[in-house]
Amino acid sequence: MRVSIFGTGYVGLVTGACLADVGNDVVCVDIDAAKVERLTGGEIPIFEPGLGELVSTNRARKRLRFTTDGQSAIAHAQHIFIAVGTPPDEDGSADLSHVLDVARTIGRSLDRYAVVVNKSTVPVGTADRVRETIAAELAVRGVDVPFDVVSNPEFLKEGDAVKDCLRPDRIVIGSTSARAIEQMKVLYAPFNRNHERLVLMDVRSAELTKYAANAMLATKISFMNEMANIAERVGADIELVRHGIGSDPRIGYSFIYPGAGYGGSCFPKDVRALERTARGYGYEARLLSMVEAVNDAQKEKLYELIVRHFGGAPKGKTIAVWGLAFKPNTDDMREASSRRLLEQLWEAGANVRAFDPEARDEARRIFGERSDLVLCDDAESALEGADALVIVTEWKAFWSPDLSRIAKSLRSPAIFDGRNIYEPAAVEAAGIAYYGIGRGRSVQRQPSRPKIA
Ligand SMILES: NC(=O)c1ccc[n+]([C@@H]2O[C@H](COP(=O)([O-])OP(=O)(O)OC[C@H]3O[C@@H](n4cnc5c(N)ncnc54)[C@H](O)[C@@H]3O)[C@@H](O)[C@H]2O)c1
Repeated sequence: MRVSIFGTGYVGLVTGACLADVGNDVVCVDIDAAKVERLTGGEIPIFEPGLGELVSTNRARKRLRFTTDGQSAIAHAQHIFIAVGTPPDEDGSADLSHVLDVARTIGRSLDRYAVVVNKSTVPVGTADRVRETIAAELAVRGVDVPFDVVSNPEFLKEGDAVKDCLRPDRIVIGSTSARAIEQMKVLYAPFNRNHERLVLMDVRSAELTKYAANAMLATKISFMNEMANIAERVGADIELVRHGIGSDPRIGYSFIYPGAGYGGSCFPKDVRALERTARGYGYEARLLSMVEAVNDAQKEKLYELIVRHFGGAPKGKTIAVWGLAFKPNTDDMREASSRRLLEQLWEAGANVRAFDPEARDEARRIFGERSDLVLCDDAESALEGADALVIVTEWKAFWSPDLSRIAKSLRSPAIFDGRNIYEPAAVEAAGIAYYGIGRGRSVQRQPSRPKIA
């Protein structure tokens, strides 16, 4: 099938490459001319395992092209995907300007039936707005071209995006048009062979499904962080508690890791946007507000532990930071916990020596050159001259470090383990103070007695 995709970010580029890989003829459009130039020159602007190979193979097979020319992309396609960003507006609601720009572009040149597929994460009711926007442009042109707007939310995970796209656990399609549903079924048939993955529903339910999924996952994380904060105070180890509850199949082991807060381009903005949507309908989503509040506080946790260790603000200290990306296997630093930590350290007058296996360029782009930040080439050099070490992202490369070397390198040997990847006893045995998230055993050896009135 002939497919055009607007937006060549994490979602658009991966979707385009995967749809090309199963034989479709795909055109990817972006308004960012520099990005299109890099892609056309064979460069992949983001780090995503397996993506480079997939893009280059399908470009060589002439099934995948990049352009800034929206009009020619619309003329090409039976399916027009919208996969542009929906960043938070000033009040936290989703900024739909990019989505509606694409809708206007479609309306200005559509000349035969196409299915407009919205993959961006958008508030309930956006498909109606996209439809109205396209219809308004068609009316200006005085033409009557049939089209359908389908909601097809994306559930891929950065770091696993190619795998998730080629082997989705579900394909949600929101539409009541038999013609559009049929065309979507044909497009997704290669991904739907082993068992039925299509979940058909109305458009509004599909739009809400995406937010519900992210809100649920964010809630699990904030719940565990809440438990970790209790564990720390009562002298329990949240890691043992995690195993204790995960073994219950009704709870499960997935997504119950405590840590330094969730970040990324999705959970923070989507929880906020859903909360704002609910408020727009006169409903206060109290649970969502608390999920967000717990997460915001959790992003300050590592700094609190650092202050606890040094007995005050770390002014003049040098802190080694391992991990800047919001999670492993990506270079994405949008709303990453590292950003809050670094701001706090700099505000306190500390220096940072940071290492991330993939996010160094992104960090340089975000922070620019500054005297209190050294972006290191490897994990060991981040330790040079540092007082203490903070783990912010649980990259596999950080899991089995040479603890005795760390002990020798650090001036005030301490590890602040923002993802609980180390065994506290092993770290302490190497002569390093250990601070984890909710690991009361090591942080607070004597549990304080509960205050009973
Ligand atoms: N990143 C994820 O893991 C993920 C997962 C699921 C859903 N989503 C959702 O998918 C959407 C896209 O996310 P992303 O992370 O890929 O965004 P991104 O910021 O990485 O990429 C968006 C791209 O759209 C381009 N763009 C903006 N306006 C355009 C226009 N008018 N025409 C063509 N291109 C245009 C931008 O230049 C940019 O390259 C968002 O709504 C996001 O919430 C993201």
